[in-house]
Order: sequence, then C-alpha cells, then structure tokens
Amino acid sequence: MYIFMTGATGFLGGRLARELIAKGHTLSVLARSTEKVNAMFTETERRSIRVLQGDLTAPMLGADESFIESNKGKVDLVLHMAALVKFDESLRDELFETNLTGTKEALALAKSLACPRFFHVSTAYTLGANEVGGESLYDVNQPFLNPYEESKAHAERVVWEARHELDVSIFRPAIIVGDSKTGEADSKFTMYGYMRALELFKRKMERRGGLDESIRLIGSATGTSNLVPVDYVADVLLAAVEHAKPNTIYNVTNDTPPTNDVMLDYMKEALSFPHLTITETPASSLSKVEQSFNDMVKVFNPYLNRDITFHDPNTKQLLADAGYRPLQLDRHSLRRIVDAYYHTK
Ligand SMILES: NC(=O)c1ccc[n+]([C@@H]2O[C@H](COP(=O)([O-])OP(=O)(O)OC[C@H]3O[C@@H](n4cnc5c(N)ncnc54)[C@H](OP(=O)(O)O)[C@@H]3O)[C@@H](O)[C@H]2O)c1
Repeated sequence: MYIFMTGATGFLGGRLARELIAKGHTLSVLARSTEKVNAMFTETERRSIRVLQGDLTAPMLGADESFIESNKGKVDLVLHMAALVKFDESLRDELFETNLTGTKEALALAKSLACPRFFHVSTAYTLGANEVGGESLYDVNQPFLNPYEESKAHAERVVWEARHELDVSIFRPAIIVGDSKTGEADSKFTMYGYMRALELFKRKMERRGGLDESIRLIGSATGTSNLVPVDYVADVLLAAVEHAKPNTIYNVTNDTPPTNDVMLDYMKEALSFPHLTITETPASSLSKVEQSFNDMVKVFNPYLNRDITFHDPNTKQLLADAGYRPLQLDRHSLRRIVDAYYHTK
C-alpha cells in the first residue's frame, strides 16, 4: 500500500513506520525536519519513504498543488498520528492548534488526495472524568483533566463526522511504554516524564545527603496505570491496515493494568531510591521536600489517582482477525521496561 503518515518521527510513529516498510508498504511522511527523517531511518528504509516537509498547523499540512496533483488517487490510507503530547494548561492554544486544527488539515488533505481511508491515533483519555471507557464517541461537553485530552476529544469528533466522505478508524492507546521484550523506548512523556522527575529528585536528595528520608508521593497506591507497550500498539495498527472495519473505534488498552504501588516498587528498585511511598495524604500535610517533588510531577497526578476500566472488544476482534497475539504485559516485562529506562541511558 501507499500510506501517507504523520508523526513518523515520533516514539510510536518511528516504530510503526519501520514495521510498515518491513512489510513492503511505501510511505509518504509529513516531517518538520528532513534531517530528523535521515537520522532516524536507515538508507534502505529511506528508499521506501518520501518526505513532505510541512507542519500540522499549515493549511493542507504544507502540501502544495503539485504534491496534491502528483499523489491524487494514489494514496490508499492516511495514517494521522502526529500530535503535541503535553498536558500543561499554559499550552492550551498550541494543543488545540496542533491536535484539533492539525487533524482538520490532515482530513482536508486526505479528501483532496481522494484517499478512501483515514486512521486517527487518539488517546484512551478522551473519556474525560469517566471511570469506564467504551469504544464509542465521548461527549466533548464534559470536564477534561487537561487541554491535551480535550483537544484530542474534539479531534475525534471531527474525524467521526468525516465518516460520510471516507472510511475512518479511531485508535485510542492508553499510556504507551517501551517494547515488552526489550524495554526499549524513545519517549519523554507520561510514565517517562514521571521516571525522569524521580531520577532528578533522587540526585537532588543525594546532594543534600537525604536519601534516607521518607518521601510520600501523592496518588492512589491501589489505583492502576493503564500501560500498553509500544510493540502492542504498533501491532494493533499493523493489523488494522489489513483488517480494520470502517467507521470503528478501537481502544488500545490493558485489561489487567498494574497498580501504582507495583510500578513504584520497580522504579524504587531500579533507581536504588528505597524510601518512597505512594499515599492519598492531602498535599497540605507534606513536608517542603515532599512538596517540591510532588510539584515536579503534578501534571501526571490525574493518572495516578484513577482506576479506569476500558473495554476493547473491537481491538480483540481485530487482532484475532489478523492473527496477532492479544496483549501480553506481565510483571517481568514491566520490570524490564522500567529497568531499561534507568540502565540504558
Ligand atoms: N505516548 C503516549 O503515551 C501516548 C498515549 C496515547 C496516545 N498517544 C498518541 O499517539 C500519537 C503518537 O504519540 P508519541 O508518543 O509517539 O508522540 P511523540 O513521540 O511526541 O511524536 C509526536 C510526533 O508528532 C509530530 N508533530 C508534533 N507536532 C507537529 C507539528 N506541529 N507538525 C508536524 N508534526 C508534528 C512530531 O514531529 P517532530 O519529530 O518534528 O517533533 C512527532 O513525529 C499521538 O497522537 C499521541 O496523542 C500517545
């Protein structure tokens, strides 16, 4: 197939692009920097890649008339996964511009190219404050935990509305972590942002000779972190290229997510930082030192206080149809993913 892809220079996109090429597909990729494409992909891989230099925030993503004319009727699938993955309220305008306007431009380009299919990579957290997530469209008129989730929920709606003009599929991964077999990851966000903050905090504590001090992290010990390894998310998308049903939503989530205290145990061991506990204590009861760490990770707190149940029958059926294995993320894989982050940098 000839696939136009956004986000190929990202954590998930890099992985998926390599696997698509290995399966014989040809890619046209939107990239802000051709140098990044050259650095990320081998010379052999680059023979299957054409680069459209552009930006999500540009009209038609920066595609000019000659690009549209020369590709019209030839693109089998637009796979849109580029996004700004940051949670800060101060970035609200930028998040909407990149994630919502960018999705509208990706759809406009798909239509100009007369492309019959559009895949949109969203997030499991478009469910807002709900505790149960199904594979249907969520209400955008509800409270969201941050502007990233809100921008992605609005983008889903725009994609869904386009289903009368082309076949659309929406994929909603939960928190993407490293490869389940090697632990390898190229991400700074979500769990990796948290692990990095923990590492910086440990260094700070070492400098002040305070590694024996007990530190409380605010969150629910029995709450769960809905983690999915990057190889699983890539498998779902690969399966979908051949077997997705039109106008369907796929939750790419974990039925048996690890509890926060288990994940913190792995991090403490990998980092040799033993006196950390996770607790629901009110922030006002924390010491100054504890407050300084909790401030560093406050954007992640909503993900540590919840225990969401996601349903994913569409994804399970898709994997079965395509002959791929269901999610396998046991304790050994989780430990490997945490260890790989702290020990291979
Ligand atoms: N990571 C997670 O835990 C997670 C969880 C659920 C859903 N998702 C979704 O999965 C997708 C991929 O996430 P990821 O973790 O792979 O993110 P990532 O590593 O940050 O990659 C983001 C990609 O989007 C591109 N991009 C960002 N802004 C752009 C712009 N203005 N114009 C053109 N390209 C732009 C980046 O290009 P540059 O290389 O130029 O920066 C990069 O290729 C996103 O849609 C995200 O919402 C991620």
